[in-house]
Amino acid sequence: MSDQPLQTLGEFIIDKQDDFQYSSGELSRLLSAIRLASKVVNREVNKAGIADIIGNIGRTNIQGETQQKLDVLANDIFIKALSQREVVCGIASEENDDFIEIKCGDNGHLSKYVVLMDPLDGSSNIDVNVSVGTIFSIYRRLTEPGSPVQLADFLQKGTEQVAAGYVVYGSSTMIVYTTGNGVNGFTLDPSLGTFYLSHPNMQYPENGKIYSINEGNYSKFPQGVKNYLKYCQMEEGDRPYTSRYIGSLVSDFHRNMIKGGIYIYPSYAKAPNGKLRLLYECNPMAFLAEQAGGKASDGFRRIMEIEPTELHQRAPFFAGSKEMVEKAEEFMRMDAVKD
Ligand code: AHG
Ligand code: MN
Ligand code: MN
Repeated sequence: MSDQPLQTLGEFIIDKQDDFQYSSGELSRLLSAIRLASKVVNREVNKAGIADIIGNIGRTNIQGETQQKLDVLANDIFIKALSQREVVCGIASEENDDFIEIKCGDNGHLSKYVVLMDPLDGSSNIDVNVSVGTIFSIYRRLTEPGSPVQLADFLQKGTEQVAAGYVVYGSSTMIVYTTGNGVNGFTLDPSLGTFYLSHPNMQYPENGKIYSINEGNYSKFPQGVKNYLKYCQMEEGDRPYTSRYIGSLVSDFHRNMIKGGIYIYPSYAKAPNGKLRLLYECNPMAFLAEQAGGKASDGFRRIMEIEPTELHQRAPFFAGSKEMVEKAEEFMRMDAVKD
């Protein structure tokens, strides 16, 4: 064991507060609220097998997908933690059709931040005891503090993110986040309920040997993706690569960031923009990928430069080790030229 003293997430947040000029501590309080909510969700996820909270509740969200009970519970927990602590002026969530306005203090709308989130990612994994996650993305509002929050405050390009991160409820529970100064990971000690800095300055290996994609959809993929997959499977040099797909973006991304790999959810005929949501899945993961020395694109463009037009907008997503993403983009471009 190392002699280094353990640093808790709470201590780390306060230490880093000075990185922000004119910081009022508001972002620190916001991150602390996320830390608290993630512990509560972690408790519920751990109980999923024994409590009567698994299974679907017979409702669908705006995308027409069946909501799991835990989706709704995680959504409520995060909204409550963020609104009661008055650390955001608005929240947009995968589970809510529209954004929610949060009134703070006597004058209302005082906070300068908005949060976008996927409260439970990979929720189809819940019933089978496989890792799930939470994804969050934080922006400074564009409209004047004190006035009601507007849709425009949420429809910002990923490059404008102030912070982003995820929680992975896995064999251990971790928070991984960035405020634009690298990526740091914290592991929960469940006996103490404390997150400790376990993965300082996380970096994607430049190259990797894992590709993660739902190959069941192969016949519907664009030709460029099909060609890239054939390249991954070819016996040459360090290939064939290994295929690993959990079906939870957070977990697939987390593994690939540590081991080196690429995650792809491409477009296909029936879904020209793929499946993943730009604002609360792709952008936060893209911010983390870039901060960890990796890359994230829609196959052609940098994800974080896409101009959003809708809250629940989707985008094709290629994220991972820089060299792997660049190779996949090369195949996409080659195919686009032929069309
Ligand atoms: P969510 O549970 O928030 O709806 O997200 C599921 C997403 C993502 O996490 C995962 O990688 C992908 O959907 C899996 O989709 P397929 O089942 O189509 O592969
Ligand atoms: Mn998701
Ligand atoms: Mn979700």
